Amino acid sequence: MLRDMDAIVVENLKKYYIVREGFKGRKVVEALKGISFSVRRGSIHALLGPNGAGKTTTIKVLATLLLPDDGKVLVEGFDVVKEADKVRKRVGVALDVSKGFYSSISGYENLVFYGLLKGMDFNYAKRRAKELLELVGLTDAANRPYYTYSLGMRAKLAIAKALLSDPDVLLLDEPTLGLDVESARSVRNLIKELSTSGKTILITGHNMHEIELLADSVTIINNGTVIASGTPAELKSKLGLLHKVNLRINKDGEEFVRIVKDLMPIEGISVSDLGDSIKIAMYIRLSRDELIQKLFEFLKNSNYRVLDFSMEEPTLEDAYLAVVGGTISG
Ligand SMILES: Nc1ncnc2c1ncn2[C@@H]1O[C@H](COP(=O)(O)OP(=O)(O)OP(=O)(O)O)[C@@H](O)[C@H]1O
Ligand SMILES: [Mg+2]
Repeated sequence: MLRDMDAIVVENLKKYYIVREGFKGRKVVEALKGISFSVRRGSIHALLGPNGAGKTTTIKVLATLLLPDDGKVLVEGFDVVKEADKVRKRVGVALDVSKGFYSSISGYENLVFYGLLKGMDFNYAKRRAKELLELVGLTDAANRPYYTYSLGMRAKLAIAKALLSDPDVLLLDEPTLGLDVESARSVRNLIKELSTSGKTILITGHNMHEIELLADSVTIINNGTVIASGTPAELKSKLGLLHKVNLRINKDGEEFVRIVKDLMPIEGISVSDLGDSIKIAMYIRLSRDELIQKLFEFLKNSNYRVLDFSMEEPTLEDAYLAVVGGTISG
């Protein structure tokens, strides 16, 4: 499974938490029950799953903040247990993007401080802080105290902090949590730019629309187990989700239905007579390409006139709900 083009390789990762229960009791929480996935260098990969699925735990293991209990985890080819120092040099992490800064000093001063903690000399730390504030679009707010920053600005500062030592791999846990539409979009654009500049990015999140816009590939986990993975397009087609087709034709609705039912796996159909034309809505269980090919071939060889046509694509959210809801396993 280890390929040169993978920046992150996770194989059979297990992680348990021991929690105290009452005065004497101890309980083992199996946060990760043996998950595997890999992330191609330079791509954006999303870890998805319901609350408590194990996303943050995975990120903490990748960032060397938690030791795995079993399995193999490599970042840029280095083992997070045996070569933790090498991993740390190559990884930047933002765990809770609305926290982790001193509120009475400026964004600039915060970054300089964290740069010094990372062992940078003072002049270099100052230069790097300026550079990063520019990169994330915070130059104008650089000298304002952190407590005056909006949530969107805080998220950007958290990403800047994760970028301090110019890591190859960025781990961003819910980078747009709580952001308004405009700020979320601007953080998304920043993530895209970072990916274009060659960084490998692992993100988590709950907004499927956003993940669909951002991620090249996705791993869905539930209860510490991987339940589906692939590109958003693969996930949607692997799951064989329904497409909805809306058509308006010039005549003979009943006959049309009889013919298409023989040609395609139709799971639902409604026909309404509009007087001058016939409106048809069909749910068809076919991949997008197959569906278009079959339908257009049939229409081309028929004498129906198509007055309107539209097709509704399944979304990543449909795919996500199908696997997490347990109806289909991908
Ligand atoms: N420090 C901890 N001690 C004990 N149990 C923990 C600890 N951190 C997480 N867990 C448990 O491990 C499991 C996975 O948690 P994790 O935070 O990784 O989930 P998540 O996918 O990030 O969820 P969310 O979407 O809510 O952020 C959950 O059952 C959680 O309760
Ligand atoms: Mg989490």
